[in-house]
Amino acid sequence: MTLFEPIKVGTCQLQHRVVHAPLTRLRNTEDNIPTDLVAEYYSQRATEGGLLIAEATAVSSKTGGYPRIPGVFTKEQQEGWSKVIQGVHGKGGYIFSQLWHGGRAGSSLFLENNLAPFAPSPIAIRGDNQFTNTRYEVPREATQDDIKDFIQQYITAAKNAIDAGFDGVEIHAANGYLIHQFISSSSNKRTDIYGGSIKNRARFVLELTEAVVNAIGAERTAIRFSPWGGSHLDVDDDTPYETYSHILKKLDPKLAYVHFVEPRDDFLRIPDLENSLDPFRKVWKDNPFITAGGYTTRPETISAVSQETGNLVAIGRAFTSNPDLVYRLKNDLPLSKHQRDYFYTTDAIGYTDYQPYDKNANP
Ligand SMILES: Cc1cc2nc3c(=O)[nH]c(=O)nc-3n(C[C@H](O)[C@H](O)[C@H](O)COP(=O)(O)O)c2cc1C
Repeated sequence: MTLFEPIKVGTCQLQHRVVHAPLTRLRNTEDNIPTDLVAEYYSQRATEGGLLIAEATAVSSKTGGYPRIPGVFTKEQQEGWSKVIQGVHGKGGYIFSQLWHGGRAGSSLFLENNLAPFAPSPIAIRGDNQFTNTRYEVPREATQDDIKDFIQQYITAAKNAIDAGFDGVEIHAANGYLIHQFISSSSNKRTDIYGGSIKNRARFVLELTEAVVNAIGAERTAIRFSPWGGSHLDVDDDTPYETYSHILKKLDPKLAYVHFVEPRDDFLRIPDLENSLDPFRKVWKDNPFITAGGYTTRPETISAVSQETGNLVAIGRAFTSNPDLVYRLKNDLPLSKHQRDYFYTTDAIGYTDYQPYDKNANP
């Protein structure tokens, strides 16, 4: 079964293709430092030759982030991550850091002098920020100097992540955050070289990825996209196939992997059953491709998609409630249901207290 066949991803020799999707859980300190509890969570889910992608991590103090997300811009945060990484490596697993900048999804509450967050264009997300219970703000339009500064923040964060011991970094270009805001036609109305045509909207992500590759190497750099998946943050693209095919063709083909969120993802929105990732799989055929989204609610398709495509499959919600998910999938055992109420709470309950499979407790 392809799902349990080895595959080389960057510098990591994986033994199977079940990947822990990046999952924000807000269990870090107010200073964005991963705690021992966070280390316990990842270590519980680490497996021999298995890949975990860690939760979205602020690249700098200037992201306007969310409360209690982790960062990778201070020594203390690096030390917190090193403990997490040791726990994962101790079990023979691998872990990538997901580098994140929220752009207009961030909040002035977390920014110096309460300045508004940055975005490609001064267009607010419609609706409320669920993490701050405030309206999304009209963002500041980034200047070209600001764009240079964003790229510098990613370079520093990538180097910090590798210094802390991560096996690689995944650039978060999905789900409606800063990079996705630049790519998408609905959120990027710029008239300079970073807006307008596909080529221009793709310029930021391509320059940024190239800079990270130059800093830490292609085999330690990866990227996540969601061509259809930013609608909950009011991000949509008029021509997802053309836009993302252009980006894929321009990316360094030696990246550790590309990671795509399925249009069929039912997390936060109505699944799109008409579109498919297949055209992107055809473009990115020589190096690892991770597919994610919706497999939690259709676990029977995990093995099938891996068999058909050779893809790695990232699982989100089911990994929260099944620390031994890989074992359960391998042995065709039932899964424990995830509990949304504990996604964004602060303690061990609904985080590290899920139990491994027990045939008496799970008949
Ligand atoms: C609690 C929670 C937190 C998430 N945090 C992130 C994140 O930090 N970065 C990211 O790219 N996606 C994030 N996602 C999306 C997941 O990575 C994944 O794409 C989504 O849950 C769909 O997969 P699933 O159907 O297996 O749950 C999050 C999802 C959930 C449920």
